[in-house]
Amino acid sequence: MILSPLQSPQNQRKCAISAVGTLLFFGMVFYTQRFYLASEKPMPQRVYNEAMQPGNVPRDLPELVQQLWKPTLHPMNDTHFVSDEGYRYDIPKDAHRWSKPLGKKLLILDVDTRMNDGPGDLMNQNPLDHKNMTGRTGGWLDHQLYAMIHGYDYRLVRAPNYEGRHGTWVKVPMIKEALKTHEIVVFLDADAVFMYKHMPFEWLMSMWNFTPDTLVAMAEDPNSKRNRDHNGWVMWNTGFIVAQQSNRTQELFDVWDRCPTNEKYETCGHWDKDWAHEQAAFSNHVRYDYNATDELRVIPCMDGNGAPYIGDKKCGGVFIRHHWFHKDWPIRNLRDSILDLVVRRLHSHFHAEKQDYYLDAHKESYPLPDLQI
Ligand SMILES: *[C@@H]1O[C@H](CO)[C@@H](O)[C@H](O)[C@H]1NC(C)=O
Ligand SMILES: *[C@@H]1O[C@H](CO)[C@@H](O)[C@H](O)[C@H]1NC(C)=O
Ligand SMILES: *[C@@H]1O[C@H](CO)[C@@H](O)[C@H](O)[C@H]1NC(C)=O
Ligand SMILES: *[C@@H]1O[C@H](CO)[C@@H](O)[C@H](O)[C@H]1NC(C)=O
Repeated sequence: MILSPLQSPQNQRKCAISAVGTLLFFGMVFYTQRFYLASEKPMPQRVYNEAMQPGNVPRDLPELVQQLWKPTLHPMNDTHFVSDEGYRYDIPKDAHRWSKPLGKKLLILDVDTRMNDGPGDLMNQNPLDHKNMTGRTGGWLDHQLYAMIHGYDYRLVRAPNYEGRHGTWVKVPMIKEALKTHEIVVFLDADAVFMYKHMPFEWLMSMWNFTPDTLVAMAEDPNSKRNRDHNGWVMWNTGFIVAQQSNRTQELFDVWDRCPTNEKYETCGHWDKDWAHEQAAFSNHVRYDYNATDELRVIPCMDGNGAPYIGDKKCGGVFIRHHWFHKDWPIRNLRDSILDLVVRRLHSHFHAEKQDYYLDAHKESYPLPDLQI
């Protein structure tokens, strides 16, 4: 992460605002923990619960979050990035540059047919204990946090069941619908997370050479036999989809959605329920028909799929990590992102205020002189 100096004569006011934000955010993250540590004694939980009821909470969280992350954002015009593992990434010289923030034109989209409201579920209105959230809550909050940081739009959609099809199919018609109102739609499965909250999505689009002519981009699956299509071409994973508004994209999603009807493709029918459902329909059929330059973009498995702990070391989930086998690990990612940011900001704030916060008196002797603490 890049931390810019927090203290300069010009931005002292901003700094004060950020400091208040830091404390509020820090307080929110740790209040629950303190509460449980102290739970030997009866605590006024009712009061705390009431304060955190949706109607009572101020609605300034997106602003606070943006302020908190702002000094850490990766500059849109920087062409390099080095990951925590030490991998170096460069935006190709001839790549289309998405240099203006897309703001609310970019939608981060979650879609699910299952919407529970038990303990730890997002839909449960009781204050959420971070130690008790479900994996899907963790993933969805991770996506919301990322959208807030960059000012993107966010939507969680509960989709109707798709009659006669496996549940994963619902993302196809839902992304198609979202593309009627948003220029760029970024869909993620609940078990996929953003590893670098400070990387603008525009930057990633530039790096992956997503151009104004690109309809859809997806990450490759690990290249194993099970993950190849009828031609032996590795499938693209539908757990992370970037789609761009256009008539041609609407057509593509329509063709994809109707694939199992066999009208256009004679052998697509069984993918309605057979694994890998919409993913196999796309890989075996649809992608062969959208092959003009730039129409489809494949994202390296390393960047947009898998995780470092899986067998295939070419699928390390560097930017988008996909926890297929550990559905509750998005919780860790969410926690790490928040803790990392808050701790770094606290630390850099301390250094910025060191003149006021720190007094080095170790060379004095007792009885102490007048120290002016
Ligand atoms: C990016 O833009 C900023 C502000 O316009 C400028 O100060 C900086 O030098 C630029 N950085 C690069 C790598 O071009
Ligand atoms: C935590 O979750 C478990 C089950 O997942 C539930 O029994 C328990 O009541 C929850 N605790 C809190 C404080 O929500
Ligand atoms: C897209 O389709 C709509 C409706 O069919 C049409 O009015 C519009 O001109 C088309 N846009 C482009 C750029 O072709
Ligand atoms: C693109 O797809 C069309 C229709 O499936 C096919 O006829 C054509 O040969 C393909 N072109 C390339 C370069 O693969």
